[in-house]
Amino acid sequence: MWYLAVVISIFPCLISGLDQNSLNFGIEYLRYRDLKFVCLLTCEKDISWALQFSKSSSRFMMAVSGAFIDDSMSDFERVENCLQRKLYPVGVLIDSGCGKTEEVMYFASQNMWLDGNHKWVLINDDGSETERYGDVDNNTVMFDNDKNSSIMDTGIMEVLSNLNISVDADIVVAERDNSNYILYDIFNYGKIQGGNLNVHEVGSWGPHNGFNLDINLNGYKYYRRWDFQDITMRMILVAQPAPRHFDLESLTKPTPVPGVAVITQISTAVLYDVAKMHNFRFTPTITDRWIGEYEKNSSKVVTNALYFREQDISPTIRRLKAVQEHNDVLNSPLTAIETRYYYRIPTKGPGKYENQFLRPLTPTAWWAVIAVSTLCAFLLLLSAMSEQRPSSLQYAVFSVVASICQQFFEDIDDGGTKRISTARKVTILVTGLSCVLLYNYYTSSVVSWLLNGPPPSINSLKELLDSPLELIFEDIGYTRSWLQNPLYYYNKRNALMEDELRKKKVLNKKKNAPLLVNLVEGIEMVQRGGFAYHTEVNSANALISKTFTQDELCELGSLQSMEKTLLYPVLQKYSPFREFMNWSIKRLTEQGIVSCIQLRRSSFEVKCEGSSPRALALGGAAPAFILLAGGYFFATVIMLIERYVYKMKHSHVILK
Ligand SMILES: *[C@@H]1O[C@H](CO)[C@@H](O)[C@H](O)[C@H]1NC(C)=O
Ligand SMILES: *[C@@H]1O[C@H](CO)[C@@H](O)[C@H](O)[C@H]1NC(C)=O
Ligand SMILES: *[C@@H]1O[C@H](CO)[C@@H](O)[C@H](O)[C@H]1NC(C)=O
Ligand SMILES: *[C@@H]1O[C@H](CO)[C@@H](O)[C@H](O)[C@H]1NC(C)=O
Ligand SMILES: *[C@@H]1O[C@H](CO)[C@@H](O)[C@H](O)[C@H]1NC(C)=O
Repeated sequence: MWYLAVVISIFPCLISGLDQNSLNFGIEYLRYRDLKFVCLLTCEKDISWALQFSKSSSRFMMAVSGAFIDDSMSDFERVENCLQRKLYPVGVLIDSGCGKTEEVMYFASQNMWLDGNHKWVLINDDGSETERYGDVDNNTVMFDNDKNSSIMDTGIMEVLSNLNISVDADIVVAERDNSNYILYDIFNYGKIQGGNLNVHEVGSWGPHNGFNLDINLNGYKYYRRWDFQDITMRMILVAQPAPRHFDLESLTKPTPVPGVAVITQISTAVLYDVAKMHNFRFTPTITDRWIGEYEKNSSKVVTNALYFREQDISPTIRRLKAVQEHNDVLNSPLTAIETRYYYRIPTKGPGKYENQFLRPLTPTAWWAVIAVSTLCAFLLLLSAMSEQRPSSLQYAVFSVVASICQQFFEDIDDGGTKRISTARKVTILVTGLSCVLLYNYYTSSVVSWLLNGPPPSINSLKELLDSPLELIFEDIGYTRSWLQNPLYYYNKRNALMEDELRKKKVLNKKKNAPLLVNLVEGIEMVQRGGFAYHTEVNSANALISKTFTQDELCELGSLQSMEKTLLYPVLQKYSPFREFMNWSIKRLTEQGIVSCIQLRRSSFEVKCEGSSPRALALGGAAPAFILLAGGYFFATVIMLIERYVYKMKHSHVILK
């Protein structure tokens, strides 16, 4: 900007639209608002003013950038650089008398820069030159006090009443009145939501006595902007199936509404209370899912309707990364969701083949048993050989096997032995003792394991996959997402298993097999048995406590699918209502209204009282029977072989 300095030094008394008064006012106003970054939008003829402004403001540690908004302005690049959304608040000082002021204001509106982070001050020095405000339909502007005020005369009001100004706007119009300025606070509860422009005279500024304000402009503005004048916010929520006649008020009652999940109901009730308190309404739109693609042509669900700014708010969403990138998720959770598979423990069918009989001892213990048995058999073999027993190997092995099975084995050939060694007796004794001890440990472990173990139920998705249960799902948004979107998981940690479930148990169902069923029907099917029903815990508990008998409760099992996840209200990205909603919900939370609403609609888990004896399913007991059958089969084979060998020997004898 050095050349500007040269220009100024050459023409020190350039004619200027803005004067010393406006300069002092501007700087004092920005200091009053405690702004460190300023965007100056002035006419080119005010170049010296602008320079002087930046010089004076540097004394107060303000950083000034700017753009000229004359008719000569060709594009909005500099304006954009100046106004871009930043983390810190920016003061915007704009001369309402420049050629492109109106266009710049429209441009700012389009980019949603008339928000809480841009503190606008419009300096209107020559209001009399602009057209009279009387042309505007007087319904669109609400004045707090006398309608005589000269602000009515200015065309800037017409411009402002057409802009998308919302409740978070921070716009002050400074109207010249001799050497003083009269300040008007401008906002709208929501232009898009059908609100009117609100103009409040807030006080004045004079070159000698400074600010004389009725309100503190730095104070929290939502206390002042309390009554939303019956504007209508657009709310999108999920209901499945979509009710024919939908009444938002019915959601605020504690009774369940068919098609609407409890989570939606709770959050909507909270938002409804906010609306009641601040006098605005919601127009509901119903959709069938929460999460969808962010494509213009994809079907409208909660996330993309907000993303394309077709809706203002939605009561519940999971805080997924993609959602947070595209929408503003509020920080206050209103509900939580947890889903489970409910099923009746299968008592029929072979069940899963698993060797419960090996469980009481760990693999190392089993290896130790084998080692000891082998050692005993070896010692027996040695002593039998030293006794010169016939068929000493069979004797050694089968003695040990017999001891393990708590049986007695007597060698028929005993009579043929010449001597009885003490070593053999001791070995037999040791084998017998260790077998008795082992047997004791084993049976007591089995008993304690049966007493301690969890009831026979399905403990993982893998077991659910292997079980004979048929999967059915509650017909609700997230399940539709789960069925349609292969990248959507109830629980990211179970991604692999969920893929398998989808592939093996859901997508290859027979044509007419039930898949999506409503809550009442689903719980009934669970009650009848044979189905595992995926549903939300709260609604399931409420229904189960009403319909299940005590015996049925004892047979009811459940497996967690979606872990307990907090749900948050969600708004458009950079929504003008973000701070307001955040503040309102925080207040309701502090006053206990949120927890009251939650408690009224929550239900508690009903459990089987007492305990039902634990049965070992056939699948678990199978190894014992298999072992027995194997033993019989083996014995038969041995018998046949012996008979055959005997026959061979005898035929030999006869032939001799
Ligand atoms: C106001 O918002 C609507 C809807 O988002 C948009 O179509 C319109 O262009 C906006 N108008 C201005 C002046 O920003
Ligand atoms: C403004 O409203 C009043 C009644 O409230 C009406 O008489 C007058 O014609 C309106 N003016 C304009 C310009 O619409
Ligand atoms: C309008 O202005 C006149 C004088 O300019 C004043 O007498 C009258 O009280 C004002 N009206 C209101 C509603 O303040
Ligand atoms: C939407 O449009 C994109 C290209 O613009 C296309 O690739 C995609 O298949 C379309 N999706 C649907 C559901 O029509
Ligand atoms: C909501 O309010 C809390 C403080 O109460 C604040 O930390 C948070 O940043 C606010 N969130 C939004 C989105 O405004």
